[in-house]
Amino acid sequence: MITDSYQRYGALSRFFHWTMALLILHQFFRFTERIGNGEHWLARLSGTWHVSLGLLILVLAILRLLWALNQFEYRPRYPRTTQTAVRIGHGLLYLCMLLMPFTGIMYMLSKGHGLYFFDVELIAKSKQGVSALSGIGNLHTPIAWCFLGLVTGHVLLALYHQFIMKDGTLKRMA
Ligand code: HEM
Ligand code: HEM
Repeated sequence: MITDSYQRYGALSRFFHWTMALLILHQFFRFTERIGNGEHWLARLSGTWHVSLGLLILVLAILRLLWALNQFEYRPRYPRTTQTAVRIGHGLLYLCMLLMPFTGIMYMLSKGHGLYFFDVELIAKSKQGVSALSGIGNLHTPIAWCFLGLVTGHVLLALYHQFIMKDGTLKRMA
């Protein structure tokens, strides 16, 4: 079924979740540019497509958020004691999915790099850049570390629920 139910997430929610998880994990490989002055082979995994895939993530995140709001009433329920914590955790993940591309765009414009989506130029390069945007653009890296921490916690919790508590959490999204 395409829509969500109390028992499990529907096809569209699962499509958004796993497609975006792959895309976002790919984006995190950008951290490996810190190894050996960017010469490490892992750095090449994210190199060329970071900006274009980041913009794709922004579009998917907006559509996913709208879909989540539309399906809110029908999604799997949690015990009352954990409901607020789960909602805050998922809410922060959504916030990062939106803030990462936003700060990335600000970074590109502040440096005058312009903006492109694969071969399509969206905003032309400029010699000077917009220095007023650099404050927001420089938040890209700190937010990326927070996002990585959140995703790690999210995955560990999902595995803990599935394999230690054996409450079928993974099955709801699988
Ligand atoms: C969910 C989406 C994104 C994630 C998870 C992500 C993640 C990252 C990470 C982990 C780094 C390495 C930071 C460091 O080592 O200091 C990085 C750097 C960078 N990202 Fe993104 N990014 C995303 C989207 C974007 C978008 C949409 C753009 C541009 C429009 C962008 C532009 C950049 C640039 C220019 C750098 C290099 C910054 C520098 O050299 O200081 N990113 N990103
Ligand atoms: C970048 C990586 C990831 C992000 C940003 C992310 C984000 C989210 C979000 C926002 C939700 C709430 C449902 C929704 O609105 O889609 C969710 C649910 C879920 N995620 Fe992830 N996720 C990621 C990776 C993973 C991975 C690798 C696993 C596997 C261990 C996983 C397992 C789950 C499960 C089982 C649920 C359902 C939880 C429940 O019903 O309580 N996620 N995820």
